[in-house]
Amino acid sequence: MVSRVIPVDPFDLVVIGGTGDLARRKILPALYRRFCAGQMPEDARIIGASRADMDDAEWRDFVGAALDEFAAAKGCADRGRFLAMLSYVSLDALGDTGWDRLASRLDRDCVRAFYFSVGPGLFGPLAERLQRYGLAEGDARIVVEKPFGHDLASARALNADLARHFQESQIYRIDHYLGKETVQNLMAIRFGNMLFEPLWNSQYVDHIQITVAETVGVDGRGEYYERAGAMRDMVQNHMMQLLCLIAMEPPAQFEPDAVRDEKLKVIRALDPVDARDVVRGQYLADGARPGFKEHVENAESTTESFIALKARVSNWRWAGTPFYLRTGKRLRARTTEIAVVFKDTPHSIFGPEAGQHRNILTIRLQPNEGIDLGVTIKEPGPGGMRLIDVPLDMTFAQALGPEAEDVPDAYERLIMDVIRGNQTLFMRGDEVEAAWAWTDPIIASWEEVGARPLTYDTGSSGPEEALALMHRDGRRWREIRV
Ligand code: BG6
Repeated sequence: MVSRVIPVDPFDLVVIGGTGDLARRKILPALYRRFCAGQMPEDARIIGASRADMDDAEWRDFVGAALDEFAAAKGCADRGRFLAMLSYVSLDALGDTGWDRLASRLDRDCVRAFYFSVGPGLFGPLAERLQRYGLAEGDARIVVEKPFGHDLASARALNADLARHFQESQIYRIDHYLGKETVQNLMAIRFGNMLFEPLWNSQYVDHIQITVAETVGVDGRGEYYERAGAMRDMVQNHMMQLLCLIAMEPPAQFEPDAVRDEKLKVIRALDPVDARDVVRGQYLADGARPGFKEHVENAESTTESFIALKARVSNWRWAGTPFYLRTGKRLRARTTEIAVVFKDTPHSIFGPEAGQHRNILTIRLQPNEGIDLGVTIKEPGPGGMRLIDVPLDMTFAQALGPEAEDVPDAYERLIMDVIRGNQTLFMRGDEVEAAWAWTDPIIASWEEVGARPLTYDTGSSGPEEALALMHRDGRRWREIRV
């Protein structure tokens, strides 16, 4: 495999919230790795901005420490040259301090991007000031992080706030799942092969399972998580994106609005979810490790750290094929996978003793990215026609060689797409609103009755009732394992 790095145009990237956790863990290491890969032009500039009173040298020290911690394995010898691209401006998002200085720092003709690595409460004030100080003009662009709103009303208000100062074509709403290599591979697998697409519909697909299982708890993020829960934190955004890429019609081109139009149609075709088709859970304490309620410091918490639900896409392609979604913290293994479970053959010529067999296409997003197609063959040996299922397994790292392990992480790809001006892997405003419009009534269905989540053990597959959700339909979840 030959990896190709296409250098981007010269740019100024302002990381607002430049001393925050996301900047330290993700944004700055990602920029450094793109620098090491040779993708950044010599005269690119990265400007940190935050309320903290720091000078350039102090911010460079801060970034250096972040790289030691989060980018040591993938670094390069030229770190000094990367650090020389950095400077810092102390900025008040809610006042006027620092804005003139920032504007004079940006006084040159090149791509200009502002990464809002701050809470959504500051998106509006920042957008307003960028415009007031003449920084929103031309093809200036802003990058905003999730959570994009807490519900439909707040997402609409945020969209309206941003739209007052920026065109939609200037706004890059990040969902980091879209930057993952294998998530994009979903589109390649579906639309680059003749093999799957003719079978990709309710005539041949019995159901689809999407699992995002994590082993971590909500340690250190209790305050945010207590307000969000798994539905807002994972389903409304990341899992929704996976569902869209699996369910959407082929866009006419791989072009931002063509792709986003098709995703939007899927979201709008989602049926409301019946409360009986939702199972929520909270993890219990495990030996020395606290449980969910201790993590969020609320003994009465009704927030879920696990959710499983059955969704239906009501359109010609998918009517009758349910999509089962499940995600949770502190589960048995860290795994993200999509399983497309095909229907039984219409008639078995081998008789009842051959048993029932189904093809399952599994797309593993992490870890061990790859695809696996379960096919039915004859069990070797004499003694009649017995059938068994075997995997046609392709782990990308094995098939593509060591370079497959060296693909850019989600933030690297997405930040470079911002600089290139490619919005394909970013969410459009109407898409986010449609996702909230589907999510809100589901959340309301448990909030209105004050329903409490069930409990589950750390290291399990979630509450037993999640198993029952599928058993009721004569189906079962795939095992959560690495
Ligand atoms: C984040 C969520 O958006 O995604 C976290 O807020 C979650 O709760 C994380 O752990 C999962 O991302 P990844 O890339 O580790 O699958």
